[in-house]
Amino acid sequence: MDQRTPAAPGRVVAVAVPLAMALAVLAGCTDGGAHARPGAASLRDPYFPQIGNGGYDVTHYGLTLDYAPATGRLQGTAEITARATQNLSAFNLDFAGMTVDSATVDGRRATVHRAGTELTLRPPAALGRGDTFRTVVRYSGAPRTITDPDESEEGWLRSGERAVGLGEPTGSMAWFPGNHHPRDKASYDIRVTVPTGLKAISNGELTSERTTAGRTAFDWHCAEPMASYLAMVAIGPYETKATRGSKGALPVYSAVDPTVAEDSADLVAAVPGIIAWGEKTLGPYPFSSTGVVIGQRDDSGYALETQNRPFLPGPTGLGTLVHELAHQWFGNSVTPESWRDMWLNEGFAEYTEWLWEEDTNDVPVRENFAEAYDDDDNWTFPPSDPPSAADISRAPVYGRGAMVLHRLRVTVGDDLFFSILRSWLRTYRHGNASTRDFTAYAEKEAGRPLGGVWNGWLYGKGKPPLL
Ligand code: TRP
Ligand code: ZN
Repeated sequence: MDQRTPAAPGRVVAVAVPLAMALAVLAGCTDGGAHARPGAASLRDPYFPQIGNGGYDVTHYGLTLDYAPATGRLQGTAEITARATQNLSAFNLDFAGMTVDSATVDGRRATVHRAGTELTLRPPAALGRGDTFRTVVRYSGAPRTITDPDESEEGWLRSGERAVGLGEPTGSMAWFPGNHHPRDKASYDIRVTVPTGLKAISNGELTSERTTAGRTAFDWHCAEPMASYLAMVAIGPYETKATRGSKGALPVYSAVDPTVAEDSADLVAAVPGIIAWGEKTLGPYPFSSTGVVIGQRDDSGYALETQNRPFLPGPTGLGTLVHELAHQWFGNSVTPESWRDMWLNEGFAEYTEWLWEEDTNDVPVRENFAEAYDDDDNWTFPPSDPPSAADISRAPVYGRGAMVLHRLRVTVGDDLFFSILRSWLRTYRHGNASTRDFTAYAEKEAGRPLGGVWNGWLYGKGKPPLL
């Protein structure tokens, strides 16, 4: 889809530009003037080169989403606060489908151009490097479902009056425009309005719920930085429950679809205990609330570690819940620098499941390791380098990724290993990290090179022998 709104009156070019610059200098404006250029249209992710944009850094998203389940139509407003990292004449947002109705930058109408999933906004005056600016995009339409290279579906998943917006890896651009690369994390306020009787669940804490004229608005506030692939809205006849966990302090808010409520009770009840165990094992829980959203079976073909509260497609095993909550530390707080670093999410979450099974079910980690070692699916490629975008969530990223951690543990000993895990989480808390960051960090903490672990288990093509 391609859209254009006319630029400000044509024609004024040759004389007006130097004049405008002179006036800007007189007025002490910091705008980029002649040195401004468009921000990059990509952050050059090795697996998803179309996502992410350069030239600015988002600090906050304010999303106002009005949803009509009967038609599947969404009316949205995205208020995006960002800081320019260069003098900017124009910049891009990632956005797939729907219709852009208008866009402003700092209250002034911006020119809109769309090509594929790139939305280019050109404000009437350039933005200066370091400036904070506010973009407002109004949009509408039926948000679409996006199919991944690996055939899984994300974006907007609708089923009757229910709908769920999920993001990993590129689905969030189907329901709001943004800088949809995991490197640009931001805080969020998400307001979802639905017909009264339905609920809307999202990330962070529910700060208000107001009904007017048969529509109820749910306001969710997510203060800690969030990568956009972890944003979620779940709309449906959810049964909700708010309690307090972890030493009575951490708010726990969970929602279950009534069709699976009975079978979900044990999972919902398990959340505070898993968080408490996580705090003991990994260190402080990184967010200001937790919980779980358990949708209908088949709402999505997978569970996702959406921030604060994971989304499960119906009641899963307890191991899956442990895995998704482990991601709150590994992935959501410490977020991959690029999609190549996916094993920092999945290998670590898988290993956390092994630790949980050892602590609570008496299954020694070495048994899970041995099982993973014997599974041919784990040996098709090294976790550091999935061959394509279709492979970033395949077995080696999980199983062999977890084996890397276990080999590190066996090599440096339990005390140092757990100290590395915890201080890694502390050092990169609410940030981004790459594979190299991790190997360098572990070596610094261990005080010696650990090539013996990385070469065979993390980087090597073949299956290292067990000595
Ligand atoms: N991250 C999810 C998990 O481990 C799995 C997943 C769902 C996924 N959708 C994805 C991974 C898309 C990569 C891409 O529970
Ligand atoms: Zn996972």
